[in-house]
This record gives sequence, C-alpha cells and structure tokens, in this order.
Amino acid sequence: TAGNSLNIVWHKCSVEKKDREELLNQKGCVIWITGLSGSGKSTLACALSRALHARGKLAYILDGDNCRHGLNRDLSFKAEDRVENIRRIGEVAKLLADAGVICIASLISPFQKDRDACRALLPDGDFIEVYMDVPLELCETRDPKGLYKLARAGKIKGFTGVDDPYEPPLNSEIVLPQREGMCDSPHALAEIVLSYLERKGYL
Ligand code: PPS
Repeated sequence: TAGNSLNIVWHKCSVEKKDREELLNQKGCVIWITGLSGSGKSTLACALSRALHARGKLAYILDGDNCRHGLNRDLSFKAEDRVENIRRIGEVAKLLADAGVICIASLISPFQKDRDACRALLPDGDFIEVYMDVPLELCETRDPKGLYKLARAGKIKGFTGVDDPYEPPLNSEIVLPQREGMCDSPHALAEIVLSYLERKGYL
C-alpha cells in the first residue's frame, strides 16, 4: 500500500495494551456482528453494550449505518466502497481493542474476504465474529426501515440480499440462528455472546 512506501517508522510507547487492560479489568477485543439488513445486528449490539456496561465493562459500538454519517460519509454502497467501509471500521475497531475497549462492530460486511482481512488485523482470538443467521425472507418481513420494499420496487439499486450479494460467513465464532416463529430476545442473544466472552477470559 501507499503507506509502506513512505519513510514512516512505528513509534512504540511504554504504556501498552496490557497496562490499559489492567486499568479497565477487561481484555480489549472486537465483536464483529455480520448479517443482512434487518437481521438484528444493531439491536444485538445495543443489548450487548447495555449488558457489558451494567457489568462495569467498557464497550463501544461502531455501527455501519452510524459511521456512514461521519467517518464513512464519502462512501456509497457499490462494491469498492463497501470494501473501504469495512476496512476503515476494521482499522478503527483494531485501535479501540488496542485501547482495551470491547469494540462491537455491527455492519452488513457482506464479503468473506473483507471480514477475514479485519480478522487478520487483530491478535489471535481477539476478533470474535458473530453471524446473525436470519433468512432473507424473515429480514424482508421485518423490513424495519422499509428499505426492502423500496429495493423490490427498484427504488434502491444494489440492496444486499435483493440485487447485491451477501456471502454467509464460513468461520464465525458464534452463529445466532433465527427463524420465523423461533427468535430469541436481544437480551438472550446478548447472553450467548457474554458467556463466550467469559469463557474466553475477556471479561
Ligand atoms: S456494508 O455493506 O457493510 O458496507 O453496509 P453497512 O455500512 O452496514 O450499511 C448498511 C445499512 O445501510 C442501509 N442501506 C443499505 N444496506 C444495504 N444495501 C444498500 N444498497 C443499502 N442502502 C442503504 C441499511 O439501512 C443498512 O442498515 P442495517 O442496519 O444493516 O439494516
């Protein structure tokens, strides 16, 4: 990349990740929530954030929609912009995890390659992928923002799941399946993620 060709040297500081983690009494990591629009990513992110906060843990949400209001306001939904959207959120998530924060990234992130590239930015184990395994039909029935309706009417082009691809993850740490009439509450889903974090020593 361009950065590699510049004369820039990494500057190391004596206060390290482990020192910040000691202060916070937690381990920094990235919980990467992927899934179709309407699959419940943001709802789970909020439920998780609440549950962690209640336990005295510092968590911070990077939501795809929200980041598109600022950090990623220059990006569209065409493939190369989605790639850049994911890359930037991956880099910010990495910084937050290094700060000792439990970073919750929730974005469609439709491409396996890009999710894996974000995974590769983190030390082993610190990237925890959560797949909202919800069939398109169910997301479309929910249609919380009315966007599927617009996409079906041809008023939004390149909508994920309708006329743009979503590659289901191959190696998620946590899969949260939901089916018509078989949906766990956001609180129950958050508990599944929390027990994973506990088991792996992040809390
Ligand atoms: S991506 O694919 O990771 O870059 O997408 P993300 O940053 O998560 O943004 C997805 C939200 O943007 C709204 N939206 C669209 N989604 C998919 N395709 C198209 N064309 C599109 N246009 C707008 C939509 O509300 C998504 O929100 P969520 O929270 O996923 O429902």
